[in-house]
Amino acid sequence: MLIHSASQLITLEGGPQRGSKLGELGVIENGAVLIRNGLIEKVGGTEALINNYPDEERFDAKNRVVMPGFVDPHTHAVWVGDRANEFEAKLAGKTYLEILAEGGGILSTVSATRNASLDELKTQSKERLMSMFKHGATTIEVKTGYGLDLETELKQLQSILDLDEEGPWDLVPTFLGAHAVPQEYEDNPDGYVDLICNSMLPELINWWNQSAKGRSLPFVDVFCETGAFSLDQSKRILSSAKELGFPLKIHVDEFDNLGGASMAVELGAYSADHIVMTSENDIKAMAKSDLVGVSLPGTPFGLAHKEYSPAKSIIGNDGYLAIASDLNPGTTWGENPQMIIAIACRYMKLTPAQAIAAYTINAAKAVGKHAEIGSIEPGKKADLLVLSIANYQQLGYRYGTNLVDTVIKDGNIINYRN
Ligand code: NIG
Ligand code: FE
Repeated sequence: MLIHSASQLITLEGGPQRGSKLGELGVIENGAVLIRNGLIEKVGGTEALINNYPDEERFDAKNRVVMPGFVDPHTHAVWVGDRANEFEAKLAGKTYLEILAEGGGILSTVSATRNASLDELKTQSKERLMSMFKHGATTIEVKTGYGLDLETELKQLQSILDLDEEGPWDLVPTFLGAHAVPQEYEDNPDGYVDLICNSMLPELINWWNQSAKGRSLPFVDVFCETGAFSLDQSKRILSSAKELGFPLKIHVDEFDNLGGASMAVELGAYSADHIVMTSENDIKAMAKSDLVGVSLPGTPFGLAHKEYSPAKSIIGNDGYLAIASDLNPGTTWGENPQMIIAIACRYMKLTPAQAIAAYTINAAKAVGKHAEIGSIEPGKKADLLVLSIANYQQLGYRYGTNLVDTVIKDGNIINYRN
């Protein structure tokens, strides 16, 4: 199939974009893409490609923007229930960490998720994933972390694996058993850390080898934060995971700076996520490494906080910056990547071009998939969006409505717009 007459074909060719390179979109005006067997085969101008492939089936982009599908490298999309009551408590002045310390917050979603059947969990989660997909997310990372016991964590992983097969999207699984200390271990948090290191992670490998049909191991992530896991506890968990061969991610500096980003660099993690209260030292350590800083601007927005990731400093120090939704029931229930771009532009002062690169090729790097997705280049998956706009600058500028007209996943045209 030949997609042609794109007003702007946003290729993002040339790999992940560090520092001031962020935002090099590689635009081809009046562009075209040849797709075969679900992969991108040729990229170029409309005239040239139509001349070279005159008999190819055609899809007319009608002078609108064509870009790579969004890669969302950080979500907690698999849960049951909601926490609208907490939203009201927060508006009345309670903080997120106060609610968690009282046994609410993450722990309230944990009890709902423990009590749900696999089917119920999948049904509720699938609806959110479908909504993200319609808004342009073609690859979505999904974390566990609402089980905090092996049985429920595996139920979450099973639903991620099932939903990956059932849906048009690609899902990237992450084990976040260290999302909070479960109530059973309230008086012995280090006992829970031991349980994760000595029992949950090794058992996860056995389960994975039987259940995941040859897929490579999931990421292991830790919520390194006051009220969740200390720097030392996070290091123990991630070091054990690393020894067992898991790739690593970490939640850091959402509310407090504990030095988690530098530790993540030392351990060779793929990404450090949130990075709001991150120190200059941590930013410098990140920038000297291959680690991607994943900013989640929906989270301060969802919490009505004023602090956002120091994007200018990350870019100025020559680091890798990606953005993601953090979709979850506690801090930010938003299913539209375009809205995240709108927030990133306003509060982190990213240009639309920078936000687009951060949500595609750099996001792909944050999940280790930049060789397969995140740009429109020969050999990559044909995961593309046809937007309803003629100029990419309208992304971020306009918000709250869906500017995705058509999603093309693995070369299949899926128009879910209604
Ligand atoms: O990334 N910070 C930890 N985890 C989520 C919130 C999860 C929840 O509140 O349910 C986050 O913001
Ligand atoms: Fe998160």
